[in-house]
Amino acid sequence: MIKLSKTMPEKYSGDLVAFLVSQPKKGSPKCAQTQVQKVIKRAHASGDFVGKEGQVIFHYPETTGKNRLHAKRLLVLGVGNEKIDQESFRKAGGAISAQAIKTKAKKIMVVVPENLDLATSDVAAGLSEGLILGAYQFKKYKAKNNDEVGELKEALLFAEDQVSARRGIKFGAIGARAACIARDMANEPGNQWTPSHFADFAKQLAKKNGLVCKVLSKAQMKQQGMGGILGVNQGSDQPPKMVILEYKVNPKASTLLLVGKGLTFDSGGISLKPSAGMEDMKYDMCGGAAVLSAMQAVSEAKLKKVNVIAIVPATENLPGPSALKPGDVISQYGGKTVEVKNTDAEGRLILADALAYGIKKFKPDMVVDMATLTGAVIIGLGHHRTGLLSNDDDLCERLISAGEESGEPVWRLPLGPEYTKQLKSTIADLSNIGNRAAGTITAGAFLQEFVGDTPWAHLDIAGTAWNFTEKSYVPKGPSGVGVRILFELIKNWRK
Ligand code: BES
Ligand code: ZN
Ligand code: ZN
Repeated sequence: MIKLSKTMPEKYSGDLVAFLVSQPKKGSPKCAQTQVQKVIKRAHASGDFVGKEGQVIFHYPETTGKNRLHAKRLLVLGVGNEKIDQESFRKAGGAISAQAIKTKAKKIMVVVPENLDLATSDVAAGLSEGLILGAYQFKKYKAKNNDEVGELKEALLFAEDQVSARRGIKFGAIGARAACIARDMANEPGNQWTPSHFADFAKQLAKKNGLVCKVLSKAQMKQQGMGGILGVNQGSDQPPKMVILEYKVNPKASTLLLVGKGLTFDSGGISLKPSAGMEDMKYDMCGGAAVLSAMQAVSEAKLKKVNVIAIVPATENLPGPSALKPGDVISQYGGKTVEVKNTDAEGRLILADALAYGIKKFKPDMVVDMATLTGAVIIGLGHHRTGLLSNDDDLCERLISAGEESGEPVWRLPLGPEYTKQLKSTIADLSNIGNRAAGTITAGAFLQEFVGDTPWAHLDIAGTAWNFTEKSYVPKGPSGVGVRILFELIKNWRK
């Protein structure tokens, strides 16, 4: 969808051409294109436009005269003057997409501004991400002839430094497209996205991009003693799947293990959730979706600095006749026993099996898991930051900076023996819940019991996987959060 333009902006005859301007300390914002500069001057003189972030001029340009524009519509967008970074251009890209869709412009051009304190590749990457993420729609189940809203088909970027812009577009588009795939999976309803769909997606991706895919069946899980995922699956008719993708590119490099919660519908099980809002629990697979989509991005970009393994334990959590009952005791992969006091705290049970199995089998140097794990993280951090819990300061630093860079910020919460103690059970090694206090931390403390000394981080995306912070490039519904922070982490990998 995003391409580099060979046509000059004034000669572009598509549906819309967009220029970006920063806000000067005083006076009218500057634009090198004469016609556009005239429009900006008039808007500025009227007091309407100073180039502040998010300010727009929408205009139907003259069709005659020298220096005239050939595009049907002109958009001038302010990007502000403070802290102009990649996120500024993501937001700008999102705003441009929104305007294009609203006016039914299908083909557009965006002119990459020069003379900023930001590399052209970063500007182009930010714009590409914002344009793609902001143009996202999920129309699969709507009537085909529904033309209430437009659809952006093609965006050309015009840039002086083509080499740098091309690089930015490449990585920006790969990350954003992968995030859109994660949104697609999440938008699918529970009856259309089951554990088997996760398995099929991974197999296809493996075939396309040369990864290795293995899927453990229910019988193989039994052989391996994966009592967590099997227990959670007991109330469901859909077979569970343990989906494993291997991207092994460099025998000398380290190995990163990613684990994502693939709960395709969480009713709570016998500890049934209230019906109001239960439909949102089709999103309980967003961790799994993020991890597999990140594998798509990494393999498409052919990153070579680190080997990456992804595991998605996938099942439904339903209250069928064989479902786990509160108080049941299960045995996790590796042998630890757990008293399941609340069947709605199921994510940690399936993750525990996947983490312990992945660490034993692949001996990774680092592990990151991602899950819509606790409602409590929404109470603590709202919908603006993902919760981070970890046993390793270096990994935290990497994730915090990848979060800032990608516009998917995280915030670290503590772990410690005082929290782990809340998980004591009188009859088993562990209970799957603490008391009400520090719900996000005790969930993390539970997972910590299954990672040993391996550097590990847990990202609780329950607050950010949908209803994420209002931004131009984040639509209502699933955000695709997690994909781009992982892509960023892996792009910047160092030993
Ligand atoms: N999938 C939910 C967590 C969740 C809740 C995600 C709301 C997004 C929005 C998880 O399986 C769950 O139900 N957790 C319980 C844990 C509790 C029983 C200790 C929760 O958060 O209430
Ligand atoms: Zn639950
Ligand atoms: Zn859940």
